[in-house]
Amino acid sequence: MAGSITFTMIKPKAVANGNMGKIIDKIIDGGFQIKALKYTKLSKEEAKRFYAVHKERPFYEGLTDFMSSGYIIAAVLEKDNAVEAYRNYIGATNPEDAEEGTIRKLYGTNIEANAVHGSDSDDNAVIESNFFFTAREWDY
Ligand code: RTP
Ligand code: MG
Repeated sequence: MAGSITFTMIKPKAVANGNMGKIIDKIIDGGFQIKALKYTKLSKEEAKRFYAVHKERPFYEGLTDFMSSGYIIAAVLEKDNAVEAYRNYIGATNPEDAEEGTIRKLYGTNIEANAVHGSDSDDNAVIESNFFFTAREWDY
């Protein structure tokens, strides 16, 4: 039975550190089905567009510099209650506060380089999936 979807990115530092394979394994182990997956990069302008909701926040410049600094993995994931399930699975924004065994605890470096992104609502999951993938790549 099809569940709902969420969108994730494996962030540049986790890719550069060689952890993308382990993180993908961990996502699969968590029962998330990969509907689409891409190894890619964001330009600074794309990162600013993706994170536009944070444009007034003090970390916006640093975050968008970081997110455009290297390769990322972008993926659409499916599971029942995917948005909440994935946010619980990755742990708190700051890896220091994340529970043991979560992706951010295991592979995060700091609050900015916190290994992965996870959508915060069903609507944003669709918007973010469409940012990286055409409808035929994930919406089937
Ligand atoms: P995400 O969107 O990446 O899944 O993370 P989140 O919901 O847990 O956190 P959010 O508030 O949406 O922030 C987006 C990303 O911005 C960076 N951040 N830096 N320096 C800081 O105080 C700070 N706060 C947030 C993090 O990389 C966070 O994932
Ligand atoms: Mg967020």
